[in-house]
Amino acid sequence: MLVSISINGQVYSHDVEPRVLLVHFIREYAELHGTHWGCDTSNCGICIVLMDDPNSDQPPYPVKSCTMLAAMAEGYEITTVEGMAKPDGTLDPIQQGFHEMHALQCGFCTPGMMSTGRWLIERHPNPTQMTDHEIRDGISGNLCRCTGYDNIIKAIRWAAAYIEEHPESARTAR
Ligand code: FES
Ligand code: FES
Repeated sequence: MLVSISINGQVYSHDVEPRVLLVHFIREYAELHGTHWGCDTSNCGICIVLMDDPNSDQPPYPVKSCTMLAAMAEGYEITTVEGMAKPDGTLDPIQQGFHEMHALQCGFCTPGMMSTGRWLIERHPNPTQMTDHEIRDGISGNLCRCTGYDNIIKAIRWAAAYIEEHPESARTAR
């Protein structure tokens, strides 16, 4: 079947088996390898991308792209880690936060972590006031085997503070 999905502002159309998962469409057909593939059983969160429903006023939300068919993503806007930075190369605050706070080691979990972190900030009415428990709960669907999570939490806090100081850096203003 012909599947057309908008990813990072570009539409990718390919003939695929109906059973093709979104994560495989992103990696194999759109050739965007920043989205990783780990467990395939909805446990690790490595494959998380942001999904924006144009008919909703809610910010883009994280989805485990191994849990949905590519065809189910038609009509939505998908953002992967490759689409986070601005066209001039300026990193998104969540990316900068991971850099500033040394929030990665092997990097395998990082694209999914950054997607979830971005959502946590955007959906919270006062993100700089998020408690550690709120952040830990928010990223509980993302596993990291390296960092111990502390610096990931600091990175999310760094990005929240940066966006508060530089509201123009917010990716979505919806
Ligand atoms: S690959 Fe592990 S949750 Fe999707
Ligand atoms: S940095 Fe290695 S899994 Fe998180």
